[in-house]
Amino acid sequence: MESNKIRQAFLDFFAGKDHVIVPSAPMVVKNDPTLMFTNAGMNQFKDIFLGNIPRPYPRAADTQKCLRVSGKHNDLEEVGHDTYHHTMFEMLGNWSFGDYFKKEAIGWAWELLTGVYGLDKSRMYATVFEGSPEDGVPFDQEAYDIWLQYLPADHIIRGNKHDNFWEMGDVGPCGPCSEIHYDLRDESEIAAVPGREMVNQGSPLVIEIWNLVFMQFNRKANGSLEPLAANCIDTGMGFERLCMILQGKKSNYDTDVFQPTIQRIAAMSGKTYGADEKCDVAMRVVADHLRAISFSIADGQLPSNVKAGYVIRRILRRAVRYGYTYLSFNEPFICRLMAGLVDQMGGQF
Ligand code: ALA
Repeated sequence: MESNKIRQAFLDFFAGKDHVIVPSAPMVVKNDPTLMFTNAGMNQFKDIFLGNIPRPYPRAADTQKCLRVSGKHNDLEEVGHDTYHHTMFEMLGNWSFGDYFKKEAIGWAWELLTGVYGLDKSRMYATVFEGSPEDGVPFDQEAYDIWLQYLPADHIIRGNKHDNFWEMGDVGPCGPCSEIHYDLRDESEIAAVPGREMVNQGSPLVIEIWNLVFMQFNRKANGSLEPLAANCIDTGMGFERLCMILQGKKSNYDTDVFQPTIQRIAAMSGKTYGADEKCDVAMRVVADHLRAISFSIADGQLPSNVKAGYVIRRILRRAVRYGYTYLSFNEPFICRLMAGLVDQMGGQF
């Protein structure tokens, strides 16, 4: 399935469940001192969760441009060296603002992944929050019991606060979460080591694809948790990872989201993707950073020498450095990749 169709299928599925499909918020955040860039689909709904503004609709869904290069969620140094981290990525999400809760969030995730996308159930794992005495939050028995309707007990794993309690930042909306992981390894590898032992162990082939957050609290500056006025749902699915699975690839960079750009970089540099690991890393870095830089500028943040602008300058420099060092570029080259990116993503954004 082409990536554009994968994205549309997500939006159509949730439109069919009475969700309002909203546009992605800008990736650059100008009105929240706790955040420089959008790092999750829920950012634009923060004030609805906190009850600061009335909900405009009970349910929403979208694909959100996210950037994880600063603050609590920062993946920059990984990018290019592995197959599944990005600076900019799309997060597919659905939300309930005091409307449905865990049963529907889990049930619909299962229906979409297995029924619409046709994922292999035997390769799926769910994690649930084991609880945190220091925060006074118990084991998430409710989510565990719901998952038991869909998965055998040995595919449901208890996770700690680090993996299964999602927080937007040091302060703000948060809650226990349940992640869906997928095992992409070959049958022989699965026979040797069961997937449940690989979940959250840093394997590039046993990866989280969707995080379902049960928003119940506001983390205050003094570290305490204050219950929200209403229970909410906040989910985020990694679009590029989903494309990798549905396109039968083992790297996000081998999907149609990145390959057109990578092949352009290869042609411009006279190198072949897949022939040399150092060049491959550099091509992945450039293909990734092109998106981050272009969308940041389009959304209102130019590279500069302070604050958010400096973050963008660092990403730009990292792309230039990899291009000059490993791909033999010696004149500006990133600008020549822009038109292709616009062709590919201009329709949605
Ligand atoms: N807000 C949750 C996340 O970013 C869904 O993982």
